[in-house]
Amino acid sequence: MNAQPIEFASAIPSVQPRRPTYLMCSPKFYDVAYVINPWMVGNLHASSRMLAKVQWERLYATLSAIANIELVEPRAGSPDMVFTANAGLEHEGIVVPSRFSHPERRAEEQCFRRWFHEAGYEVVELPKGIFFEGEGDALFSTDGSRLWAGYGPRTSYESHRYLARTWDVEVYSLHLIDQRFYHLDTCFATLVGGFVLYYPNAFDAASNAQIEAAYPRERRIAVSEADAIRFACNAINVADTVVLNCASRQLTHSLESAGFQVIGVSLTEFLKAGGAAKCLVMNIESSAMNASS
Ligand code: ARG
Repeated sequence: MNAQPIEFASAIPSVQPRRPTYLMCSPKFYDVAYVINPWMVGNLHASSRMLAKVQWERLYATLSAIANIELVEPRAGSPDMVFTANAGLEHEGIVVPSRFSHPERRAEEQCFRRWFHEAGYEVVELPKGIFFEGEGDALFSTDGSRLWAGYGPRTSYESHRYLARTWDVEVYSLHLIDQRFYHLDTCFATLVGGFVLYYPNAFDAASNAQIEAAYPRERRIAVSEADAIRFACNAINVADTVVLNCASRQLTHSLESAGFQVIGVSLTEFLKAGGAAKCLVMNIESSAMNASS
């Protein structure tokens, strides 16, 4: 499925949005130490921590030019903590922290919670037994008017109504049906200018219908499977810049036609754990710390 060519680069507003803030975590203890998604199969301890560090630092440097970065201390024994998108979801100073579906990641919960408390956020807890994997499975539209939330492989559908209540926002629930795309951010990204970058086959028909109803054809950038499995949808968008692991020429062209500049940062070592650019950051744009400083 190809994106329709988009004729007007003017779709992206010229007004500069506020410089976003991202929460990141150093890959000091990063490893593929267990298997909880299909990407990790056959990759146990196969990632190079040295190369991972180099790649992460490149991402950090790239983002530092366009965003503020906050760091959370890594925890020994939590090799996936580097994927801070799964720390929780923040909006308007309120954080809903994650409740991981896999026991392997549950020790991260308290580290992230502590960080949010110390940074001055209001922390709203989900009831125990309801799984929610943070920004990995919940992404606001760029104007904040709606919340796209994934469910199925990790996040419980039930969590969505709590998210809706927390921010008094309309939640659009999307059913993830391909285990390779087990988090929403692996196959869906909202981009400024009212665009969406996504892999349609990761969703059921009803979810595709919702996406199509919300985004007109010329604003939908559908990626091929080849791009999807290189985590092209796992993209970080700041103003007209899109940072991702890599994109085909065709996808790069579609994004450029829509007015974006594409920055590829190779993240091969993190792909072995099933993550790439977007998984490595959590958007804390309405940072409580920023507000008080
Ligand atoms: N190995 C991690 C897991 O399976 C990767 C998490 C990727 N994060 C994301 N936001 N998609 O949980």
